[in-house]
Amino acid sequence: MSAVHEPPADAAAPAAAAPPGTRRRCTGEVLLEAKNISLAFGGVRALSDVGFDVREHEVRAIIGPNGAGKSSLLNCINGVYQPQQGTIALRGRTYRGMNSRQVAEMGVARTFQNLALFKGMSVLDNIMSGRNLKMRTSLLRQAMRNPWFSVAEREESVHREVVEHIIDFLEIQAHRKTPVGRLPYGLQKRVDLGRALAMEPQVLLLDEPMAGMNVEEKQDMSRFILDVNDEYGTTIVLIEHDMGVVMDLCDRVVVLDYGRRIADGTPAEVQHDAAVIRAYLGTTA
Ligand SMILES: Nc1ncnc2c1ncn2[C@@H]1O[C@H](COP(=O)(O)OP(=O)(O)OP(=O)(O)O)[C@@H](O)[C@H]1O
Ligand SMILES: [Mg+2]
Repeated sequence: MSAVHEPPADAAAPAAAAPPGTRRRCTGEVLLEAKNISLAFGGVRALSDVGFDVREHEVRAIIGPNGAGKSSLLNCINGVYQPQQGTIALRGRTYRGMNSRQVAEMGVARTFQNLALFKGMSVLDNIMSGRNLKMRTSLLRQAMRNPWFSVAEREESVHREVVEHIIDFLEIQAHRKTPVGRLPYGLQKRVDLGRALAMEPQVLLLDEPMAGMNVEEKQDMSRFILDVNDEYGTTIVLIEHDMGVVMDLCDRVVVLDYGRRIADGTPAEVQHDAAVIRAYLGTTA
């Protein structure tokens, strides 16, 4: 996060095959809903009365200038921050005071704006770390049924199988034993996505998954996000500055500015919204 209001990247930047603003998928009922969220840090109001919902199987974007409150909103959803006001519900069930592990156990996984990987550990072990959540619960369950250690070993091999599948899916087989810190930035972001996928989430919160990437890396990441959505059926909430990516990937977009929601609609609707143009996109959009 920086205090500078960066202009969004060129809306014409290529990301995926569908014509801009035309991508539509079959979305379902509301899966995740944030209502009247307010969050302050001392005198800084990060979020003021913000609400938005996410439908099942949707790719939903959150956009806005630097410091608008986008990451703070994801942090409220996944239990990193506790908002002073408002409610968040998953499948109609309101949760409050839960930490990020408890929210993850309900099926909400997260990647961070600044990579949170173990740089000295291999790709395989980093993605495996995303299985911890599943591992402990399933091991405990197994241990209650069967005290023999071989069960734990069998569990481990099942988890490895899931992780290997993710490595194949993300096309990073060649790097599976490489320490993450030695990989180019674009691949590190892909490993971070793999770590989140290892939790087998229903909802995936991605905080600027394409920041700092070149055009080719963005195209790859866009394709993986769409494949996750299509093949795993995962609902996705995405913070992104590149309007080309937002137009190509997302069903609906919520726009924040100074901690307030200033627009919500399809990519085409928000792109032509006067308040959004004034606050974020500028006249060239
Ligand atoms: N832990 C914190 N302590 C104090 N202030 C914070 C904290 N986290 C966020 N803020 C403040 O809340 C506001 C919103 O920050 P946030 O990181 O959510 O913005 P953002 O929209 O994600 O910005 P960016 O595009 O730069 O990532 C900013 O004014 C920021 O300085
Ligand atoms: Mg942010």
